[in-house]
Amino acid sequence: MEGWVALSELEDAVHAPSVDAADARERDIERVLITEQQIQDKLRELGEQITRDYEGRELLLLGVLKGAFVMMADLSRHIRLPLEVDFMAVASYGAATKTSGVVRILKDLDHDLEGRDVLLIEDIVDSGLTLNYLLKNLRGRRPASLEVCALLKKTGIQRVHLDVKYVGFEIPPDFVVGYGLDFAERFRNLPYVGLLKSDAYSDT
Ligand code: IMP
Ligand code: MG
Repeated sequence: MEGWVALSELEDAVHAPSVDAADARERDIERVLITEQQIQDKLRELGEQITRDYEGRELLLLGVLKGAFVMMADLSRHIRLPLEVDFMAVASYGAATKTSGVVRILKDLDHDLEGRDVLLIEDIVDSGLTLNYLLKNLRGRRPASLEVCALLKKTGIQRVHLDVKYVGFEIPPDFVVGYGLDFAERFRNLPYVGLLKSDAYSDT
């Protein structure tokens, strides 16, 4: 059948290793911290938990750009409920690897949050300053409920107390890239979370 991909080719793709020395995306990666498989298994688990917790309700998934765009696509497909998505864009970092504590809203939501069940999707909670600011801002819009789902949470370095209901992985406080997370806007398209080689950035 012309135009069809042979099943054997698809199977090869599925079994291909996720780290490929010839893959130009990976040139500055020291090592993989969380594999593609581990991320996908975790998102399935979180999706099932969210499906149970919000049974009978209609969710609004709110992604924080740009980092959450990859997770949003994968997680949303594991939530077996009617839902809507919206995005807001914030900037807290510039190109450096330490938080500035200053959060700017670059793009606001299209939805009115009043009376909605809102689940905020974050790539990573580091100092927590970005999330803290966002939650205060969003609470002021009077949603029926507001919870947070973060793929990653760095251990022991939050500067503010935060209730993050759904956490994928707790990781050490190192700078990571991949699966939506960038360094100077690169590496977002890696299917795993990895550590950068130290000579790929200067931590100033
Ligand atoms: P926080 O305000 O310190 O919690 O930082 C929040 C934002 O900084 C995240 O949404 C990310 O965009 C970015 N960020 C924090 N840690 C990392 C990291 O290890 N790699 C890439 N981006 C990070
Ligand atoms: Mg960033």
